[in-house]
Amino acid sequence: MNKRSTKTVSASPRVRTSSPEPSRTSAPEAVFLVGFMGAGKSSVGAALGRRLNWIFEDLDDRIERRERRTVAQIFRESGEPAFRRAERSALQDVLEGIHNEARVVALGGGAFVQAANAELLRSSGVPIIFLDAPVEELWERCCKQASEAAAERPLLRSLEQFRELHQKRRPYYSEASLTIETGGRTVEEIADEIATKLRLKILEQLSQEGDVE
Ligand code: S3P
Repeated sequence: MNKRSTKTVSASPRVRTSSPEPSRTSAPEAVFLVGFMGAGKSSVGAALGRRLNWIFEDLDDRIERRERRTVAQIFRESGEPAFRRAERSALQDVLEGIHNEARVVALGGGAFVQAANAELLRSSGVPIIFLDAPVEELWERCCKQASEAAAERPLLRSLEQFRELHQKRRPYYSEASLTIETGGRTVEEIADEIATKLRLKILEQLSQEGDVE
């Protein structure tokens, strides 16, 4: 029997807690947040996780746990290519676990720009959300966080380099399934907008699968 045999569904995303079986539905069980440094991926991700009652996780935290070093240490001691390898393998790990428990995942600013990672994410079919903002605002947010010692960012150097890297990466982020403008908005407003759009997407997918009348 179809696990979802009821004819109507609540608009709330479903949460899987224990079944290790891969899902038979294409409705999202995870959502990935991408965007440049300072886009608010972690703070928006945490707020979105609370709203959806999904786990929130930051890919950089997983990398640090696996490597037993901070991101800054990995960059300093082993260089960026080593960090990218660690990032890719942490991402594979996350993707293998998404059918067990629904989650919101914030990716570091360079993750989605790596072709192999983008391919992995696209083939998983999960929604990828690009948090966009004007580059000046991203820079200001990063500088503020740096001065509060909230985040050590190895790639945060001069405004000029920041702009250059942002310009290079923006076309890649734009390949995400959804772009959300974050400039001048609060974390809660942004999380609300994503949750609303995600629920619509889930209902749309369920109706295509014939579960909603
Ligand atoms: C990086 C962004 C960082 C972190 C690492 C590399 C990047 O994450 O993954 O320093 O390449 O833009 P945040 O985007 O969360 O700062």
